[in-house]
Amino acid sequence: MRAYDGAVIPKAELHLHIEGTLEPELAFALAARNGIELPFADTEALRRAYLFEDLQSFLDLYYGLMAVLRTEADFAELADAYLTRAAAQGVRHAEIFFDPQAHVSRGVGIGAVIEGLGRALDLSEQRHGISTRLIMCFLRDESAESALQTLEAAKPYLHRITGVGLDSAEVGHPPAKFREVYEAAAELGLRRVAHAGEEGPPAYISEALDVLGVERIDHGLRCMEDPELVERLVRDRIPLTLCPLSNVRLRAVDLLEDHPLPGMMAAGLLCTVNSDDPAYFGGYVGDTFHAVHEALGLGPERLRELARNSFLASFLEDDEARRARYLAEVEAYEFED
Ligand code: HPA
Ligand code: ZN
Repeated sequence: MRAYDGAVIPKAELHLHIEGTLEPELAFALAARNGIELPFADTEALRRAYLFEDLQSFLDLYYGLMAVLRTEADFAELADAYLTRAAAQGVRHAEIFFDPQAHVSRGVGIGAVIEGLGRALDLSEQRHGISTRLIMCFLRDESAESALQTLEAAKPYLHRITGVGLDSAEVGHPPAKFREVYEAAAELGLRRVAHAGEEGPPAYISEALDVLGVERIDHGLRCMEDPELVERLVRDRIPLTLCPLSNVRLRAVDLLEDHPLPGMMAAGLLCTVNSDDPAYFGGYVGDTFHAVHEALGLGPERLRELARNSFLASFLEDDEARRARYLAEVEAYEFED
């Protein structure tokens, strides 16, 4: 079956962990190059392990597979492979998360990570027609002290970093734990986002807004349990970077057909859809647009709204002319059907 043409509408991807784009083929190639033995016989055996119970069972595999990423060249290759795939799915702008602590803890220097990603990002417009930003995430199941050390270590590279985020195991690690590092990031002029309300309660969403001063909520799915919070998110136009395929694979929702996205849009929330960790969750962002069209019946105008929202929610304040160009591309896009 031909993919629905709405899948390739021009769009921004705002919730994408670069380590989550590590496809099994690249993982094995990097393992061979770096002399690392993976605990899987081949790519098929690895793919068979992609059956997750919850966020933690995914994170265990996600962090384990990162062992193959060792050099600046590895990070450059990872990012370029993602950008190649993203371009084929209509992505025009990508705001990319990375997890420095998951690499530094394995003895990989933060400079190799950031310069490697930066090398691919520097060529992205020319090679792929995609503008990019980098967002450095802190692992919320690590200490607040470790997050502060990470921000300190990143200081020589801040010209490459647009903002900070918060990811990894959510429950039991409320946003307020990271108040100090978010204050320090704000003082450095960094934008702020955080995962909240993926597995954690709606109160974590409010806390991320109130205590960390975030401008966007990553996931935010569970806001729907708190009508007052929904009202606030609508009123203040707080973007949510939803990831429907991730929610199915990590069992936040049973079936894609059950995903609350249509109700969230109808409630007036500023929703975007994104791929999260596409190598693990069954699709890149164009595939996600296709899937929500099929499973949730979102038609052309709803998909156009999602694409428009992605640019409205993106950190393009330093290049409003570009944002306007992208938005014009969204409005001019013609669905075939
Ligand atoms: N949630 C939290 N942390 C993550 C995720 C996610 O979906 N993907 C990669 N790190
Ligand atoms: Zn995520």
